[in-house]
Amino acid sequence: MKEIAKIELDGKKFELPITEGTENEKGIDISKLRAETGGYITLDPGFKNTGSTKSAITYLDGENGILRYRGYPIEQLAEKASFLEVSFLLIYGELPSKEELDSFKASITNHTLVHEDMKQFFEAYPAQAHPMGILASMVCSLSTFYPESLDPNRTPEAKDLTIHRLIAKLPTLAAWSFKNAMRHPFMYPKNNLEYCSNFMHMMFAMPTNDYEMDPVVVSALNKLLILHADHEQNCSTSTVRVVGSSHANLYASISAGISALWGPLHGGANQAVIEMLQKINDDGGDVDKWVAKAKDKNDPFRLMGFGHRVYKNFDPRATIIKGACDEVLEKMGVDDPLLDIAKKLEKVALEDEYFKARNLYPNVDFYSGIIYKAIGIPTEMFTVMFAIGRLPGWIAQWKEMIENGEPIGRPRQIYTGANERNYVAVENRQTIF
Ligand code: CMC
Repeated sequence: MKEIAKIELDGKKFELPITEGTENEKGIDISKLRAETGGYITLDPGFKNTGSTKSAITYLDGENGILRYRGYPIEQLAEKASFLEVSFLLIYGELPSKEELDSFKASITNHTLVHEDMKQFFEAYPAQAHPMGILASMVCSLSTFYPESLDPNRTPEAKDLTIHRLIAKLPTLAAWSFKNAMRHPFMYPKNNLEYCSNFMHMMFAMPTNDYEMDPVVVSALNKLLILHADHEQNCSTSTVRVVGSSHANLYASISAGISALWGPLHGGANQAVIEMLQKINDDGGDVDKWVAKAKDKNDPFRLMGFGHRVYKNFDPRATIIKGACDEVLEKMGVDDPLLDIAKKLEKVALEDEYFKARNLYPNVDFYSGIIYKAIGIPTEMFTVMFAIGRLPGWIAQWKEMIENGEPIGRPRQIYTGANERNYVAVENRQTIF
């Protein structure tokens, strides 16, 4: 028998269909609720219970700590795949054959340069500009160099060209935003290097010196990017889909996603974690004191890198990354007081009733910042790294939304402001504030 939900409003009964996903996730379909009930909407701040779309890209089971891209467990992909392979999987739906992967890589490699005129934009930013601000602006600026990309409903070939350009150029733009901050000369991409190595070269080589590529670093980076590649309808991805639903072009939509990612409650948490560890260290390293502050409802302090909207058991990305983190630190012989604080914090919080009762565990950003720091990425670049990783997921979600012909995103609200009142001339008004 077909399952339905029943509600009763103003003495009338309504039936709402149940929709089911391939992993038996169930949702009450309220798409006709307002029309059928004469104006009722649902209210769900933060969309904690609201599905905004049906999607075939990523499956996430927060209760059981499961994350799969197109059906493939994250553990297998992080262990065995390359970031570009995973990008292809997310965007086109299947793992590429050898020929498909070679051709995808060749296309990405072919577009790594950015237009020379864009260098002037970089030079106009102050040295202290946050690289996320630069990155969001630069990605949107790409649309001005490729005006044919403004129409998102073009041929599949034209759409692919825009997608490949973006994947190819993001590391260049990211590395140059760092070089700009250092007032160092920009390093051009080297197309004989693979994706992660090329990024490290653009970040750390100088015209005078090559960057010595460490396979441990490159492999950790590849893993980190894969772990960040998609995470279904999170804040930045939903932003990309909503902006794209107005048929804004891909560059503008991704630029909006980068801005959404920047916040410390989302991608900005990896930077916030290191800043928090530094603060605790500078304060004398008393972990118990800071855990107590995080528990105090009158104190705005929260443990950054703890908790997640969806994972209420463990974050599978954090489990994988913790292993990678130990490996990198051991192989690189890193001895960092912040790491000791991180380990203590993790232990204290995991044993504490407050954190246990609320299912608050270290998330992916708790460990990613530590790895980034160990491999020499400056703190302000951490969220930029997240953006490079998340790009294929954003693109896949944007493409799916466009190809499914989804309607423009436009939530409703419950109005709580003043009722109708008449305009009062300025000389007759009282001072209120
Ligand atoms: N430290 C202390 N208390 C916390 C924390 C924390 N990090 N996170 C949640 N809580 C408490 C919160 O005060 C609330 O307590 P109570 O029920 O007594 O009022 C309870 O746990 C539930 O928290 P919430 O804010 O209702 O949960 P949410 O789903 O709205 O927020 C979150 C999720 C990730 C924004 C939040 O856990 C947080 O602010 N964490 C720190 C920032 C962070 O690490 N963000 C990165 C997330 S992973 C990367 C990504 O995918 O974006």
